[in-house]
Amino acid sequence: MDVNVALCVLCAYCACAMPNPGPSAELLIDRYSLPSRCGREVQPGDYVRYHYTGSFPDGRIFDSSENKGKAFVGLVGVDSKVIPGLDRGVMGMCVNERRKITIPPHLGYGISGAGTVIPSDATLVFDVVLLDVWNKDDVVDTRLLLKPLSCRRSVQHGDFVRYLYNGSLINGTTFESSYGQNVTYDTYVDEDHLMRGMVQGLMGMCVGEKRSIIIPPFLAYGEKGYGVKVPAHATVVFDALLIDVFNVKDDVQVEVLYVPQPCKRKSKKGDFIRYHYNGTFQDGTLFDSSYQRKSTYNTFVGLGHVIAGVDKALHGVCVGEKRHIIVPPHLAYGENGTGDLIPGSAVLIFDLHIIDFHNPKDSVDIQITHKPLQCNSTSAANDLVTYHYNCSLLDGTQLYSSADLGRPAQAILGQAEVIEGWTKG
Ligand SMILES: *[C@@H]1O[C@H](CO)[C@@H](O)[C@H](O)[C@H]1NC(C)=O
Ligand SMILES: *[C@@H]1O[C@H](CO)[C@@H](O)[C@H](O)[C@H]1NC(C)=O
Ligand SMILES: *[C@@H]1O[C@H](CO)[C@@H](O)[C@H](O)[C@H]1NC(C)=O
Ligand SMILES: *[C@@H]1O[C@H](CO)[C@@H](O)[C@H](O)[C@H]1NC(C)=O
Ligand SMILES: *[C@@H]1O[C@H](CO)[C@@H](O)[C@H](O)[C@H]1NC(C)=O
Ligand SMILES: *[C@@H]1O[C@H](CO)[C@@H](O)[C@H](O)[C@H]1NC(C)=O
Ligand SMILES: *[C@@H]1O[C@H](CO)[C@@H](O)[C@H](O)[C@H]1NC(C)=O
Repeated sequence: MDVNVALCVLCAYCACAMPNPGPSAELLIDRYSLPSRCGREVQPGDYVRYHYTGSFPDGRIFDSSENKGKAFVGLVGVDSKVIPGLDRGVMGMCVNERRKITIPPHLGYGISGAGTVIPSDATLVFDVVLLDVWNKDDVVDTRLLLKPLSCRRSVQHGDFVRYLYNGSLINGTTFESSYGQNVTYDTYVDEDHLMRGMVQGLMGMCVGEKRSIIIPPFLAYGEKGYGVKVPAHATVVFDALLIDVFNVKDDVQVEVLYVPQPCKRKSKKGDFIRYHYNGTFQDGTLFDSSYQRKSTYNTFVGLGHVIAGVDKALHGVCVGEKRHIIVPPHLAYGENGTGDLIPGSAVLIFDLHIIDFHNPKDSVDIQITHKPLQCNSTSAANDLVTYHYNCSLLDGTQLYSSADLGRPAQAILGQAEVIEGWTKG
């Protein structure tokens, strides 16, 4: 098939070239500037966008796309709207390549010429720089630039994402960068909020992953282009680094890492709780930690004193329990974030360690661990009692002990010599 086509072309060429043989009879291609890398080469059926300058062999310019301020866009090989010499001359070209294509008359405008511009039997010289090449069958092409160590969840249609990106044309010219603003681009991943190609390109991405997303024009800015920087019919390349992903339907996710045994009681609404925490973003950056302040965070459970996601996750914990929780922004600081600390729409991850909790309505809890067989009299108000004791926190941390004194402690009951709960106990 290819051979046949080639033969046919050759026949036509011979027939035309016969009467006027000579050095100008052949199509001459001088690939005088080649890019170091060639992503793809122009093939029949591709669309191309290029700038050209057309001149006569003596150097007189008769047409220039750059002077017109608009690159040429068209199909190659099939249904081409340009003279055969130019159509064939761009075949196999790479983006950023520059060629000088010398076209003999029979592959140009032939004997008839073109209007007052191209005389009869003119050899034409086209200087071409290829800006873009794509095909209507192209799909979004993604290339992995950086793979994160782990991936808890990847982007799905309808998710909300935050990412940093650079946008460039296929010839390497950058047209937009979120780094310029030093803030993430925050958006829903759907066709109402993003160009179709970008929706496809972000799909399946993990936090911490960096991708190059190459989008053909018809899935990007299409025939209109974008502002002054993205011309019509431009393939665009977005290098994106995913910072954060969640779905508005997400609830707080709780992973229980450790539950001490036994667990006598679990926290409930109204409890006063003390806990340590580390707060990080999805990319692992620490934004806050109670350890840095060397004091627990203390609050009531279920009364809305902390962000909703944490409040929820503080329910049903045991003293000493450890939890890893992931809080979507709608259960945290929302789309505005807070000050410089939390950016808008940020997913927050907390590692919680419950130190203790109690309820303000709790009474003194007394457990008898040993009772002598004979018990003739029990202690009462105004008795002088002599006793040994150990005092510790609920998590087992020893505070102090009568052993520190080297002798038993003494107190007269009901004389406010010791704390109230102690007297009861
Ligand atoms: C964007 O370009 C800047 C400057 O070249 C670079 O530092 C940054 O890593 C790029 N970002 C992405 C997501 O590729
Ligand atoms: C890349 O293409 C754009 C428009 O298509 C053009 O303005 C720019 O000069 C080109 N850059 C290079 C390096 O050729
Ligand atoms: C941009 O962000 C980086 C990292 O968060 C920070 O180090 C840098 O100072 C910021 N630059 C500006 C101009 O805000
Ligand atoms: C976020 O900030 C905008 C603009 O400052 C404000 O109009 C909006 O009410 C804020 N949203 C919330 C949930 O605070
Ligand atoms: C918080 O981070 C510190 C330092 O990495 C670590 O020692 C501590 O165990 C962490 N706390 C929790 C609850 O994960
Ligand atoms: C308790 O009473 C019994 C009999 O009433 C007596 O035998 C015993 O010695 C008493 N014990 C103490 C510790 O006083
Ligand atoms: C206090 O702790 C020490 C060391 O564990 C133990 O020997 C002693 O019996 C304890 N005392 C009381 C009153 O529980």
